[in-house]
Amino acid sequence: MGLIRLVYISAATQQPSDQDLISLLEGARERNKHRNVTGFLVYKNRTFMQVLEGEHDDVHQLLAKIKKDNRNNGLVKLLEQPIEQRDFAHWYMGFQNLEHYTAEQLPAYVEILDDKIDESKIEVARGKSLNLLLSFVKQTDI
Ligand SMILES: Cc1cc2nc3c(=O)[nH]c(=O)nc-3n(C[C@H](O)[C@H](O)[C@H](O)COP(=O)(O)O)c2cc1C
Repeated sequence: MGLIRLVYISAATQQPSDQDLISLLEGARERNKHRNVTGFLVYKNRTFMQVLEGEHDDVHQLLAKIKKDNRNNGLVKLLEQPIEQRDFAHWYMGFQNLEHYTAEQLPAYVEILDDKIDESKIEVARGKSLNLLLSFVKQTDI
């Protein structure tokens, strides 16, 4: 079916420790290599945002697992698009913990993730999420 990118946000059920995040990523990277899924995850303020890239079925199988994962809930899909090529080709899962960034350092982010996920934020997030995630890989300003 071809390559897609999918972006979602979800709420962390508990404040993850640094070690929780490291464990989550270690597992994710191992499995993503096998599934050939690439992407980037960010965390801030009890909220995850992740872009997943891969073959349609691989991405959807993984999304189904993440939805059932009790470390997060309330998952909302923001974007799903066919892509010609991967933007995160070298990242079996990149990660940035944004917990210690200030709102001023994260203008695109603050509206999306500095509060509970609510309906009014979803539309804003749809438009901004990909640019934010791409900023980490393209080394541009957030
Ligand atoms: C926010 C978040 C992001 C995750 N990202 C990935 C990922 O990119 N790849 C992955 O294999 N698992 C990821 N996981 C873990 C999956 O939810 C799940 O634990 C994992 O696929 C193992 O599932 P299984 O034990 O049913 O095989 C993530 C979990 C959370 C909470």
